[in-house]
Amino acid sequence: MTEKKIKWGILSTGWIAHKFATALQVADNCELYAVGSRTLGTAKKFADEFHVPKAYGNYEELVSDPAVDVVYIGTPHNLHVDNTLLALNHQKHVLCEKPLGVNRKEVSRMIERAREKNLFLMEALWSRFLPNIIKTKELVDSGEIGEVKLMTAFFSVKSDHGPEHRQYNIELCGGTVLDTGIYNIFLSLLLLGKPKSFSAIAGLSEQGGDNSCSYTFKYDKDTLSVMFSSFLADPPVVAEIHGTKGKIVLDHLWFCPGKVKLTYRDGREKIFEFDFKSNGYEYEAEETAKCILAGKTQSDLWSWKDSIQLISVMDDIRKESGIVYPKHDL
Ligand SMILES: NC(=O)c1ccc[n+]([C@@H]2O[C@H](COP(=O)([O-])OP(=O)(O)OC[C@H]3O[C@@H](n4cnc5c(N)ncnc54)[C@H](OP(=O)(O)O)[C@@H]3O)[C@@H](O)[C@H]2O)c1
Repeated sequence: MTEKKIKWGILSTGWIAHKFATALQVADNCELYAVGSRTLGTAKKFADEFHVPKAYGNYEELVSDPAVDVVYIGTPHNLHVDNTLLALNHQKHVLCEKPLGVNRKEVSRMIERAREKNLFLMEALWSRFLPNIIKTKELVDSGEIGEVKLMTAFFSVKSDHGPEHRQYNIELCGGTVLDTGIYNIFLSLLLLGKPKSFSAIAGLSEQGGDNSCSYTFKYDKDTLSVMFSSFLADPPVVAEIHGTKGKIVLDHLWFCPGKVKLTYRDGREKIFEFDFKSNGYEYEAEETAKCILAGKTQSDLWSWKDSIQLISVMDDIRKESGIVYPKHDL
């Protein structure tokens, strides 16, 4: 029996679009069918590189192709809402890069449109679908390390880009919280749920975006999650979860495919390793395909409620630490 495949259209041709296209080559139930860029030449170059049958010189034409089932959006943060609505309005399912929108209002609009149209929509929070993160959640949920008392998660990578780049550019809603801090916050919400209270402080650029930000969540019984994100320095990008019976350590680039190290308080260790087919983006693609083929509009692993909770916490952190996107009011 032939495998049923869904046809992907990739909207944009930047860094992440290349990674995602690479993963689609091996993802189950997926076919990379079309690409759309602001310029036809760029779309054609991308299509040549990945053997994509259709190349379009604007996003409208891509979403208008009747053969495209689902659109992957890899544009800067400020454009996610418009690009997603464009695709949904053309009856396409959508996998949109993180953050789904830049504030709760945008994310709610996107979800409402998907609901009205009965289409699949998911935030491409790729780490959620990686076996190492799934294993970590299983270990925490099953009480393997006892009661969690402290989580630390850091995502600081020096960025040498200029002020016009999407990481810094305020017009494109740059800044660490939405770009990289989102992974730290996601991990805390995934493993420990919604915090009871929090504090946050940011270092702001001249444009008003955050070059660095730290945020601490407080949970019941004095459990803390201590996190930071920065574009200014290169410490190890690690996450640790400490419980009453042991700890879990996710090594450098913890949000990527990797190992899980479990150490009990008596010193015994277990290391969990996984086989990855490609660069790790295949898991979110396969989850999307599985949901669409099953007629679902959202994933159980990363649902609309999860995206709303994540953006709501990020809105609160932005308010507390003074990060303002003038054209995208909270
Ligand atoms: N999941 C992950 O691991 C991961 C990693 C990095 C980034 N991301 C996310 O992916 C998204 C894109 O990041 P990226 O690093 O791929 O960015 P990028 O390299 O700058 O690519 C963004 C693409 O968006 C399109 N675009 C449309 N309007 C644009 C504008 N005004 N300025 C710049 N580009 C514009 C361009 O494609 P065309 O010219 O073809 O239209 C451009 O190549 C962001 O949401 C980011 O947070 C996710």
